[in-house]
Amino acid sequence: MSDFKTYHLGEYTCRVTFCTPAEALQVPAQKKALYISDSNVLPQLQAIVGQPLPVVAFKAGEEAKIWSNIELALMRGFDLGLGRDDCMVGVGGGVVCDMTAFAASLYMRGCTLVLAPTTLLAMVDAAFGGKTGINFGGYKNMVGTFYPSSELRIAPGFLSTLPEREFRSGLGEVIKHAMLDDPELWTFLHDSARSIQSRDMAAMEYMVRRSFDVKGRVVEADLREENIRAHLNLGHTFAHALEAVAGFGLWSHGEAVAWGLHAAVRLSHRLGLCPKSWVSEVEQLLQLHGYRTQSGENPAALLHAMKQDKKKKAGQVRFVLQEGPCKTLLRTVAEEDVLAVLD
Ligand SMILES: NC(=O)c1ccc[n+]([C@@H]2O[C@H](COP(=O)([O-])OP(=O)(O)OC[C@H]3O[C@@H](n4cnc5c(N)ncnc54)[C@H](O)[C@@H]3O)[C@@H](O)[C@H]2O)c1
Repeated sequence: MSDFKTYHLGEYTCRVTFCTPAEALQVPAQKKALYISDSNVLPQLQAIVGQPLPVVAFKAGEEAKIWSNIELALMRGFDLGLGRDDCMVGVGGGVVCDMTAFAASLYMRGCTLVLAPTTLLAMVDAAFGGKTGINFGGYKNMVGTFYPSSELRIAPGFLSTLPEREFRSGLGEVIKHAMLDDPELWTFLHDSARSIQSRDMAAMEYMVRRSFDVKGRVVEADLREENIRAHLNLGHTFAHALEAVAGFGLWSHGEAVAWGLHAAVRLSHRLGLCPKSWVSEVEQLLQLHGYRTQSGENPAALLHAMKQDKKKKAGQVRFVLQEGPCKTLLRTVAEEDVLAVLD
């Protein structure tokens, strides 16, 4: 595992390595490990390691993000006699990464945390940045801690078994990262659509690295979301509203984000911030990758859902908008302008 970069996140240091799936699962020297995974990823994990493992595997899906599963992982840690210097290794998508990180942050006030993300969304987004958590009281990610992994092992090889819907979910975030801060990635997404859709491994490697690096730079510059980290929410205020109105599950998160990206640039254009050509470019790329840019939902219902969104300032929803590629800003917007771009 020679190819790595070290990120400094406040008092924490995170070593990010690009590697093979087998390398991603290695236990750091001199440490005992508890693996945490889910029911879909577990067979792959066992096949790669080839011997019985100390593992807790949750039933796959968002429903697993609950306190009783955290308790289960903590109990298993105690049963195994893990010490504070030993580690929890999360192998899975964003759900597993969020939960493993939460459990590790609590275990003996914080044990070593290694994450090996296996979905595109977790590789380019969920596994990095320190946010951990579970769903609570009917709200997503309502309870959690801040605890970056000491090691993040990104193995694009895991993507070969990822279901199409989950792949497209992560691709929405990749497109967002390209819009925020990587014109070369943007061009690649345009020119290499076929290789991406067929999951050519060289294309996956390149895309994941570039996309990860955008998040890496933003989080390192603004760990506590005091300014530019909020830009990572581009398209998300719209996406959360769509998910809430359409019913969770009808649109994958990335599909909702893709629709939200289009709505965000349309709103930017309506406010005179960006040229029409940027809206057309975004629309063209989204359609090239098969995303819908119209929701078919009731605009008033979408607006109502947006007003419930937790990222509000002084009762108003703040939007992440763009003046063009890589030129992002935050602004509160009048309801009539928002309504005009909701379709
Ligand atoms: N902490 C953060 O900063 C952050 C950021 C974004 C999202 N998240 C969280 O991430 C979660 C969503 O993550 P996700 O989209 O990865 O969902 P997920 O973890 O539910 O994984 C999606 C599905 O893919 C399966 N899967 C995973 N890897 C696979 C592989 N290699 N082959 C075959 N199947 C595989 C899983 O079992 C699951 O069924 C949400 O809970 C969200 O809140 C956290």
